[in-house]
Amino acid sequence: MQYKSLYEVDLSNKTVLLRSDLNTPIENGLVVNNERILRSLPTLNFIIDAGARLVIMSHLGRPEENDIFQEEFSLLPVVNEMENLLNKKIMFYNLGEFEKLDKIPKISVIENTRFCIGEKSNDNDLSKRLAGLGDLIVMDAFATSHRAHASTAGVITFSNEACAGLLLDEELNALSKVKENSKNSVAILGGAKISTKLSLIDSLSKSMDKIILGGGIANTLIAAKGNEVGKSLVEESMLPEAEKLLENPKIIVPHLVIVSDNPDKPGRLTSIDSIEKNEAIFDVSPESFADLETVLMNAGTILWNGPLGFFEKENFDKGTIKIAKMICSSKGFSVAGGGDTIAAAQKAGVLGKLDYVSTAGGAFLEFMEGKKLPGVEALIDKVN
Ligand code: 3PG
Repeated sequence: MQYKSLYEVDLSNKTVLLRSDLNTPIENGLVVNNERILRSLPTLNFIIDAGARLVIMSHLGRPEENDIFQEEFSLLPVVNEMENLLNKKIMFYNLGEFEKLDKIPKISVIENTRFCIGEKSNDNDLSKRLAGLGDLIVMDAFATSHRAHASTAGVITFSNEACAGLLLDEELNALSKVKENSKNSVAILGGAKISTKLSLIDSLSKSMDKIILGGGIANTLIAAKGNEVGKSLVEESMLPEAEKLLENPKIIVPHLVIVSDNPDKPGRLTSIDSIEKNEAIFDVSPESFADLETVLMNAGTILWNGPLGFFEKENFDKGTIKIAKMICSSKGFSVAGGGDTIAAAQKAGVLGKLDYVSTAGGAFLEFMEGKKLPGVEALIDKVN
């Protein structure tokens, strides 16, 4: 990728504006999963250790964009968590307050960028204001780089200098490795809706050797084959598209599934052609993967996105757990991405065994689909 790296810029005595993705789940004023914060720390520490003053900005959730503080979306819990992790004092300001400061503190965080009118429309005036907060911008928010917002794209255009942070660079390198090494490559795609993954399936089926489907995505293909699927989660409007996918020899649909007439009751194992009208598919049966063991063992690269069943329920987590374990036993380079996938990998006890886990959901999918990411494109444009 042709963008400047953090190692190429002079940070000493500079005020560095850092765009991180600190969009983390918060309950009762506390961060309940600090993964994105932890993964942002190497860049933060690098900048602090270089002797710069650090100004961090991020969005959190999807608040109303009205220049008004909304407590539910405040970054305060993130700032508290970060202070604990760094063991350093962090000052916290809203944008207007920070702009009035006479002396820039060593480390500060600016309140949720999505409170500011003009963030989502990538407004030039807001982008210029944000660019004015530092001598240079470090873009590290890979997970938000698919949004052309003032704090991810516009700010880079108006900054004196811009470079990629360590996390953004690491993400792009790991995901590019999967995209570029197409020999013996396998994608495993699950999740609820085929409509959200159709372009991903299309683009991966051009570059990868095998695509194993599960979850609601597979249900729609099982229905498109003409099977009775009872009350299974199926997207009727996607049946014609699903029928086309069935013609693709790279696509593998499970033939054994776990069904039940009630998600709170244990399921029964059945072939996909013997589902009753009052039943729904809640999981792929682990037996369905028996003949895929060799494919996965010999894979060069494996991409995983989306659980294969209703994995939150103990009765229906076996398919997802089985595939997660198979991925980790393979010698292939494995990459997983997306919030649900990470939760499923955690439940299967394999999170630390995957070769790379992306912090991104939407940006991960868009990158794998081959779409350009505005936050990354702005960095590339800056050096051209
Ligand atoms: C994410 O969680 O995927 C990123 O933080 C982007 O959030 P968004 O989908 O609200 O833009």
